[in-house]
Amino acid sequence: MNKFYAKLLFTFLAIAIVSCDKSNNSLDVPIYDDSPYLLNLGSLPPPPLLEDNPLTKEGVKLGKMLFHDTRLSKNGEQACASCHLQTDGFSDIRQFSIGVEGEEGGRQAMAIFNMAYHKNGFFWDGRAPLLRDQSLLPIQDTLEMNETLENVVSKLEADPEYVDQFFRAFGSEEINSLKMSLAMEQFMNTIISNNAKWDKVLEGEASFTESEERGRELFFTEFNPGTQTGGAECFHCHGGFNFTNDAFMNNGLDTEAEMTDEGYANVTKDDADKGKFKVPSLRNIEFTPPYMHDGRFATLEEVLDHYDHGVKDSPSLDILMQFNLNPGLQMSSQDKKDLIAFMKTLSDESLKTNTEYQSPFN
Ligand code: HEC
Ligand code: HEC
Repeated sequence: MNKFYAKLLFTFLAIAIVSCDKSNNSLDVPIYDDSPYLLNLGSLPPPPLLEDNPLTKEGVKLGKMLFHDTRLSKNGEQACASCHLQTDGFSDIRQFSIGVEGEEGGRQAMAIFNMAYHKNGFFWDGRAPLLRDQSLLPIQDTLEMNETLENVVSKLEADPEYVDQFFRAFGSEEINSLKMSLAMEQFMNTIISNNAKWDKVLEGEASFTESEERGRELFFTEFNPGTQTGGAECFHCHGGFNFTNDAFMNNGLDTEAEMTDEGYANVTKDDADKGKFKVPSLRNIEFTPPYMHDGRFATLEEVLDHYDHGVKDSPSLDILMQFNLNPGLQMSSQDKKDLIAFMKTLSDESLKTNTEYQSPFN
C-alpha cells in the first residue's frame, strides 16, 4: 500500500470512528421503546391487567416519576408519595392526610400495593372504576393536591426530561392527562407485595410459631354458635392470596344514625349500601395504622375489640357479622394475641425498601 492510500484509509477510518461517536451521542434523542416490564410475582397468580395499557419499562418509569413529583400539586410541595409513603407500606399513618392547603381530608389514606388484582373499583367507596381514573382525582381534589390538570401539563411541558420520557413511553412528545394517568396506572400496577413470612411458609422456607399458627386457625375458622366457641371468621371477607374479597361490605362500625360517611351508597345511590366500604387487604396491616376508612382505631388490639364485642347493628350490616353481635365472639386475651401474631406474618419488609419503587429524583 503506498503512502497516499494509507492516508486515505486512515482518513476513512477516522471519519467512520467520528460518525460512530456521533451515533452514540444520538442516544440522547429519545427512542420509543415498548419493551415489557416484567412483574416479580413470586407465588402470586398473574394479575388481570387491562390489555389497552400493557406495562412497559418506559411507561412504568414515567409513572414512577409522576408518582414522586411534587409538581403535581398546586404549591409544589406534595406528591402522591407524600400521602402514600413507601416506608409505611405506601400509606399514611396520620388518621387524616393533610392536603396542600393545610386541611385534613375525611378518610384515611389507603395502602397502595397489589393494586393490579383489584377489579372492583378504587377508593373506600369504589368511586373510581379504574386506576387510571383514580390517579387524576387526588391532583384536582381541593383537600389534596388542589391543582388543575392543565397547570400540571404546562409544568411538565416546561421540563425537557418529561418531554423525552413521554416520547420514550408513548412514541410522541405530546403531554396530556390521559397519558399521565396511563403511566401512573402502570407504575401502581408494578407495586407488588409477596414476600411476607406467610408467603415463605407457603413456599416451605419458614414455619409459624405456635402463637402464629393458633392465630392462623382462628382467622380461617368459623364461629360455632351452638357451643359459642370456635374461630373468628375473618377469612370470609379477608380471604384469598391478597387477604381481601375485593367487595364492599359493612363490618358494623356504626348504627345507621351514626353513619356520617355513606360509603359505597355515594356511588350506587342505593340506601342498602349505606355504611359499606371496600374490604382492605390485610397484607402489611402492621405497617398501615390507623385502621378503617376513618382511621378510628389506632391499633390492631382495638380492631379486634371491635370484632369481638363492638359490632353495631344496622340494615346493611353484613350477614357474616351476625355472630359478632351480642354476646360477640368472646375471644380470650390469648386469642387476640395469637390473631395479631398471625396478622404480623403478613408484613413484607421488602415492600418498604424495594428500590424499584423509590423516587427517581434523589
Ligand atoms: C393528601 C393526601 C393524598 C395524596 C396527595 C394522594 N392520596 Fe391517594 N389516597 C388518599 C386518601 C385519603 C385515600 C382514600 C380516599 C377515599 O377513599 O375517598 C387515597 C386512596 C388512593 C387509592 C385507592 C386505593 C384502593 O385500594 O382503592 C389510590 C390508588 C391512590 N390513593 C393513589 C394516589 C395517587 C396516584 C396520587 C397522586 C396523583 C395520590 N393517591 C395522592 C390520600 C392521598
Ligand atoms: C363481613 C366482612 C368482614 C369480616 C368477616 C371481617 N372484616 Fe375486617 N374489614 C371489613 C371491612 C368492610 C373493612 C373496612 C371497613 C371500613 O373501613 O369501614 C375491614 C377492615 C379491617 C381492618 C382495617 C384495615 C385497614 O386498612 O384499615 C382490619 C385490621 C380487619 N378488618 C381485620 C379483620 C379481622 C382480624 C377479622 C376477623 C376477626 C375481620 N377483619 C373480619 C370486612 C370484614
